[in-house]
Amino acid sequence: MTTETVFGPFPRTRMRRNRQTDWSRRLVRENTLTVDDLIWPVFIIDGEDRTEPVPSMPGVVRYTIDRLVAAAGEARALGIPCIALFPKTDASVKDTVGTEAANPDNLVCRAVRALKAAHPDLGVLCDVALDPYTDTGHDGICRDGIIINDESVEALIRQSVSQAKAGCDIVAPSDMMDGRIGQIRDALDAEGLQHVQVVSYAAKYASCFYGPFRDALGTGASLKGGDKKTYQMDPANSDEALREVAIDLEEGADVVMVKPGMPYLDIIRRVKDQFGVPTFAYQVSGEYSMLKASINNGWFDHDRTVLESLMCFKRAGADAILTYFAVDAARLLAARG
Ligand code: PBG
Repeated sequence: MTTETVFGPFPRTRMRRNRQTDWSRRLVRENTLTVDDLIWPVFIIDGEDRTEPVPSMPGVVRYTIDRLVAAAGEARALGIPCIALFPKTDASVKDTVGTEAANPDNLVCRAVRALKAAHPDLGVLCDVALDPYTDTGHDGICRDGIIINDESVEALIRQSVSQAKAGCDIVAPSDMMDGRIGQIRDALDAEGLQHVQVVSYAAKYASCFYGPFRDALGTGASLKGGDKKTYQMDPANSDEALREVAIDLEEGADVVMVKPGMPYLDIIRRVKDQFGVPTFAYQVSGEYSMLKASINNGWFDHDRTVLESLMCFKRAGADAILTYFAVDAARLLAARG
């Protein structure tokens, strides 16, 4: 590798010098992506020995618990630290107040127990929100078109305690009700569950990028074209994200999350700079589907797309990334050595 011959002293500073070779690029690299940065979100269903494809997320499937345990074993063998569970709940158990959310034998709690029995050292994160269980598709209790904050928080507390008693390591409230982090922390502590971590979806935006996720859970149909703008954040705001984070930290969150991911990297950076706390990012379903569509059309290279999109989160300041590409990324990182 040689640089071009130039005449005269100009330019003295040549940014390309450090980029000439792979070894030099490696030396000056500012950020790294490793398997330790990955959390794998998975969809689960009732039944046995079966998977179902999610049509709007090509390559993603819903797993029965036995298949989940097997898939989690592969993820763990690749070194993925943690998986996040999202249930597709049968319509027959849904109601207005999301009663099933707190059932200690619901799909998520059964999955947690099976995972912890098979892979005790794999982290298990449970999402806390009522949307898989409400007939309205809302994350809180909705009456006459209004989401009732404090009554929803009561239900979220019961859900968190059930999940924690089932043995999950992390409860992650994604519901965006006010005051839920402190209430959930207190309830866990009162139950002797001080060790359970609380990862708050602190800055969660009312985003179109959740569309495929709602298909995967079957919650989009229940929402009937409605939206979550009275509790999720306005995409136009970023100062407000800092207030959300400050409040959740004050209430005892161990980790804060920003969601969606790629269109909100500026929020991750602001949160990290201002608070310097563990900060996770969620590369959500719509981001996966958007990238996958381009990959499947042959417009983007799969491997480079996966690794570049995840590296950008590290550059923005994220400590870990929830991504449906987690297993692909772990394989690529292992192959790269
Ligand atoms: C529900 C929840 C959502 C996601 C995670 N938890 C959807 C929503 O708020 O409607 C989205 C994840 C994704 O799109 O991948 N509380």
